[in-house]
Amino acid sequence: AALKRVCLIGSGNWGSAIAKIVGLNVMNQPDVFEKEVLMYVYEEIIDGAKLTDIINLEHENVKYLPDIKISPNVIAVPDVVQACTNADILIFVLPHQFVKETCEKMASAVKPGALGLSLIKGFVLTEGEGIQLVSNIIKNTLDIETAVLMGANLATEVASEMFCETTIACHNPEYHGILSKLFQTPYFRVKVIENVAGVEACGALKNVVGIGAGIVDGLGFGDNTKAAVIRLGLMEMMKFTKVFLESDDISVFFESCGIADLVATCHGGRNRLLGEAVVKSMKDIRLLEKEILRGQSFQGPLIAKEIYTYLKDHDMLDQYPLFVAIHRICTREVDPRNFIECLREHPEHM
Ligand code: NAD
Ligand code: 13P
Repeated sequence: AALKRVCLIGSGNWGSAIAKIVGLNVMNQPDVFEKEVLMYVYEEIIDGAKLTDIINLEHENVKYLPDIKISPNVIAVPDVVQACTNADILIFVLPHQFVKETCEKMASAVKPGALGLSLIKGFVLTEGEGIQLVSNIIKNTLDIETAVLMGANLATEVASEMFCETTIACHNPEYHGILSKLFQTPYFRVKVIENVAGVEACGALKNVVGIGAGIVDGLGFGDNTKAAVIRLGLMEMMKFTKVFLESDDISVFFESCGIADLVATCHGGRNRLLGEAVVKSMKDIRLLEKEILRGQSFQGPLIAKEIYTYLKDHDMLDQYPLFVAIHRICTREVDPRNFIECLREHPEHM
């Protein structure tokens, strides 16, 4: 069979960690994959040098994943059209707010019959159209089948080769083997299933709950309180997924993309950091993002707003008090000290 050409669309904290895995796996399987992997990098200047040049010289993304080497067959390019031309497998790993415009730029260049794979945790909210799955935006804009990869995968831990699991979902079983070959390593254990939308919903929703975990940390509460946030958050995630996707499949919540990612994010995620900061400081969240993450992004507040819009449009705000409170705390409409009351009065207790 013809060798598969792989490209990466995105090169942030997770994008760079995944570039390390994919770069090595491609290089070690020359009978399956083309050696060169182009990686689209949103260009920026660091100490007078282009980030793409730094990555290609030092094989390290010094801004978004310092001290981790990426294999030299991964080539950084600033042009997304160049990155995706002729690729058979396109791995999307951008903050979700940039996915639509990026796909629109790529639309005329993507090879017919290519496979998309989204590692992006979030929804796309469009004026008048409500929220859509990121995988559907990719699929519909580029007219390609799109799979997803989500899991308990804090990027710096994965980059340091600490063992974890991940979940890939792809409708077409013919692709399951090649996707495992592309991502699995001794420290990154892949399981492939078919429920794309369910896996993706888990990945997006847990980012909101992660902020809630940070809020209870900021308030000085302990692990029992955080466990309550995780449990009530999981109940809202499951209920939302059932309504939004019109699906009764709860098995995804027991995969890495479900409960495992929720626990990891509530303990070590960037969204948890934001929740804590929102309690301890009155600064606007955009400013907190700049100060705490220095270029990386918190996806949780945007996702909380996307879910809030959906719930409001469907007259369901009262059924999701945790999601709603987290959104209103992020926008500073509600004092974070009211969060415990929200947990105490949650409808799951009635
Ligand atoms: P990040 O938070 O490091 O985001 C910064 C990236 O966005 C940089 O590469 C920056 O160049 C890019 N960017 C900024 N403006 C842009 C623009 N206008 N157009 C295109 N790109 C632009 O990114 P990340 O951590 O790689 O996250 C990407 C996705 O992966 C998110 O959906 C996130 O939820 C998910 N994810 C992250 C982790 C993690 O631990 N970081 C783990 C699993 C999944
Ligand atoms: P944060 O964006 O909260 O760091 O979560 C990362 C993640 O998705 C881990 O799986």
